[in-house]
Amino acid sequence: MSKKVIVTGGCGYIGSHTILEMIENTDFEPICIDNNINSSPKAMDRIEKITGKRVKHYAIDLCDAKATEKVFKENSDAVAIIHFAALKAVGESVEIPLEYYNNNLSSLSNVLRFTHQYGIDNFIFSSSCSLYGNVSELPVSEETPLNTPESPYANTKKIGEEIIQDYVKVSNVKAISLRYFNPVGAHASGLIGEDPINKPNNLVPVVTAVASGKMEKLTVFGDDYDTRDGSCIRDYIHVTDIARAHISAVNFLLEGKQESNYDVLNLGTGNGVTVIELIKAFEKVAQLKLNYVIGERRGGDVVAVYSDNTKVSQYLQWTPEYGIENMMETAWKWQQNLNKEA
Ligand code: UD1
Repeated sequence: MSKKVIVTGGCGYIGSHTILEMIENTDFEPICIDNNINSSPKAMDRIEKITGKRVKHYAIDLCDAKATEKVFKENSDAVAIIHFAALKAVGESVEIPLEYYNNNLSSLSNVLRFTHQYGIDNFIFSSSCSLYGNVSELPVSEETPLNTPESPYANTKKIGEEIIQDYVKVSNVKAISLRYFNPVGAHASGLIGEDPINKPNNLVPVVTAVASGKMEKLTVFGDDYDTRDGSCIRDYIHVTDIARAHISAVNFLLEGKQESNYDVLNLGTGNGVTVIELIKAFEKVAQLKLNYVIGERRGGDVVAVYSDNTKVSQYLQWTPEYGIENMMETAWKWQQNLNKEA
């Protein structure tokens, strides 16, 4: 019999790819919770088109404790939960910090409470490398001390991890926080990908929007950083690699392999890529010239960050499969399909 896994934020970018991966390559039965404030329920149609399977989707707000409890009660036979749902734009979080604290933390607290109350107990948290802040040593390992977060978004992830750490001490919940670096790209089919309802603000969706004429130009936020070409360095990682890591993390907990009740794992490729290098990789695979200009630095940005993968590859036997050009290729394929849909 298939084992249910609750996926919050399942219509979102990483959530939908994880659901897809679960259907295609595991016997888990994903149950989606998503209020669609920054995602489209169409994600479930797209998944159905690819897999022939319809995923059960609850369109509720996780800050609403009553509604959340109802879903958990109905699905108390689930074996694990992956909690993706959150607001996640760094720049926006600087502008509206209270919305970020309120949404990201009260939803987490509800989800944790009902995870324990309904005996689901295996909990994967969607965390972020942004909580390392500006680091003095690269690559970043899980031992790297956490610096002051550069944005309220990053701080919600830091506090979120602390909340989980406190809660596993007084509950049966076992948890892993996966600290993503920069997830990009799309499923190899090109039929599903990042589809922000609001104006895109992450780099790759902006790149593909500009390339397809939906946005006029890309502004590179700063070329006067202390890096090899002056633009910021990030560790871009393919979303399907991220999705696979979530499934391995669920299995790791289910197989009782985790020694403590709480652990953290970095999810990156280990390669640092500058904004300009990413643009060049895109131009190469899409065979076009991207309209971009150099602009001011963006508030809340860290200069350079990339991952040390040792721990995650040991724990989960996971290694990322996609390189930067594949990432750009799949992102572009998806954007072109999205353009046809519109
Ligand atoms: C941040 C977090 C990441 C999190 C993500 C969620 C860090 C280091 N990483 O990613 O963990 O998952 O938010 O949203 O904080 N850029 C431009 N022009 C644009 C857009 C972006 O130059 O129009 C640059 C940014 O300045 C940055 C890079 O591209 O250097 C990547 O930006 P973005 O895609 O927004 O992700 P992060 O902010 O790095």
